[in-house]
Amino acid sequence: MKPVLVIGSSNTDMVVTVDELPRPGQTVLGGEFRRFPGGKGANQAVAARRAGCDVCFVAALGNDDLGRQAIATLTAEGIDVGELQVLPDMASGVALILVSDSGENCIAVAPGANSALSADYLEAKPQLFAAAGIVLLQLETPLTTIAAAVELASDAGVRCILNPAPAAEIPDSILSTLYCITPNQSEAELLTGIAAGNLAGATAAAKALRKRGVANVVITMGGSGALLVDADGVHHQQAEKVAVVDTTGAGDTFNGVFAAMLAKDLPIRDALATAVAAATLSVQSVGAIPSIPRLGN
Ligand code: RIB
Repeated sequence: MKPVLVIGSSNTDMVVTVDELPRPGQTVLGGEFRRFPGGKGANQAVAARRAGCDVCFVAALGNDDLGRQAIATLTAEGIDVGELQVLPDMASGVALILVSDSGENCIAVAPGANSALSADYLEAKPQLFAAAGIVLLQLETPLTTIAAAVELASDAGVRCILNPAPAAEIPDSILSTLYCITPNQSEAELLTGIAAGNLAGATAAAKALRKRGVANVVITMGGSGALLVDADGVHHQQAEKVAVVDTTGAGDTFNGVFAAMLAKDLPIRDALATAVAAATLSVQSVGAIPSIPRLGN
């Protein structure tokens, strides 16, 4: 089986639990402070690895303690970190995360070195794309870098999944080259202008994205599972109802596992079912990487 190539961000997550998320201008006293390795790219790489795939992770970090700890974590997971870029004059990415009693979160990211992962760096490594079974991207690195990765994957004939998080406008030149896009409901709304808060709205938004050229559109819907719209029609994968502790990284778990199942050549509906089940497991404990399940291989 060919590896999953994940290109994206590595952060250190600084997490405080609070009863309720504060309003602007409000100070709240929280509970325990915890620090976890994170970043959407790193989380997705770990999820794909724990789902049983070889994973190569490309990211940029600073030459600092946080960067070294991130590399140690990824290495311990068995992820290929040989293509990570360590930038001497930049800080590693940091995410400040508040998690409420109801499991909701709010996140602010200082991207640091993530903002310096360049198209040039990827363009010098076409062999990574040629060797990959699937390429998985997010939006915590520059859009020019994402565009280069999508093109390199296309040149190599490799399927490319884009998780458009955090939400941003994406040109049709990128959308039309993707195998799959995986927004959540608010990201789908930003991309299409269509309110995607319920199944009918999400279906309309997914169809609009397909019209812009994406072959397969998956909209993740939190506790309501995920919606797939592809050439075979509309498919809603329900999620099991569980007690939610922390949703941080649930989308990353979904994306990493989804990519891993596609790399294993599972049909897309089966990949969707496994990814929804894994994301459902992940929301039942605190932290992104600590809560990503290990799936039987
Ligand atoms: O998706 C969750 C991730 O978003 C966190 O790990 C944080 O680092 C931010 O990138």
